[in-house]
Amino acid sequence: MIVLSEILELKQVISGWKQNGDTIGFCPTMGTLHAGHMDLVENSKKQCSKTIVSIFINPTQFNDPKDFAAYPKNTDADLKLCEESGVDLVFLPSVDVMYPKSSTPIQMSIPILQTTLCGRTRPGHFEGVLQIVSKLFHLTEPHFAFFGLKDYQQFRVISAMVAELNFPIQVIGVPTKRESDGLAMSSRNLRLTPKDRETATLIPRMFQLAKKTLLGGERDLKVWKEILTDFLLTGMNVKIDYLEVVDPMTLQPVNKLTGNVLLATAVFVGEVRLIDNEILTCPSK
Ligand code: PAF
Repeated sequence: MIVLSEILELKQVISGWKQNGDTIGFCPTMGTLHAGHMDLVENSKKQCSKTIVSIFINPTQFNDPKDFAAYPKNTDADLKLCEESGVDLVFLPSVDVMYPKSSTPIQMSIPILQTTLCGRTRPGHFEGVLQIVSKLFHLTEPHFAFFGLKDYQQFRVISAMVAELNFPIQVIGVPTKRESDGLAMSSRNLRLTPKDRETATLIPRMFQLAKKTLLGGERDLKVWKEILTDFLLTGMNVKIDYLEVVDPMTLQPVNKLTGNVLLATAVFVGEVRLIDNEILTCPSK
């Protein structure tokens, strides 16, 4: 496995691969890798002859400096996992490599997709994500890029950027990988205290309740959201950042429970902000 931190070396390796006719798969990450990330790698390996993982905790996508400072870092274990999983190249740049002191600040956004969900409660977050992902796309020149659907809004925003700016890249959304009790895998789960980790199972159980009540005939959006909100708030140390029901494509709020809807939530359990979502099909009767 090749591990590189410099752009020039990265570009040399990639140009060699391209000359050989390799298909390149790219899995961007912020490290502290878990089975969810390894699922992205597995998907890439099935489809591509070379798989690149980037590990970079991108400062520009953190609207809260405390969140950035607390983001876990686990480079040695990450490299071991990548090696064992058959990753071909890990790109591990420093902040100075990605954002040299001399660089001119740039801002990218897709306003329509950023007014709801995390875009509303984490101002600046998707601007930072678009900035780093577009830079990484230019540097790695992948044919395919793999993103977890736990970050559904990120997946939509990046898919829209790729479509609108004609990046020659196919963006693949990989279903959320879950712990045995249903909690979506996330590097942030490591920061939960044992008690809060237990409380966090309210999130997957809330999605079960959402489906059950829909099947049971609930069609009043306001009442439905109240049932789900009340359920989450039975947990100690729980603060709801948002619980929204939006159109899965436009991410705009829906006003009726019909067709496919995206139920998405961000919840603070203690100090840790967890997100999850599911596309639900509302039964017609
Ligand atoms: O999903 C993440 O881990 C990050 O937002 C990403 C895509 C690696 C960009 O920093």
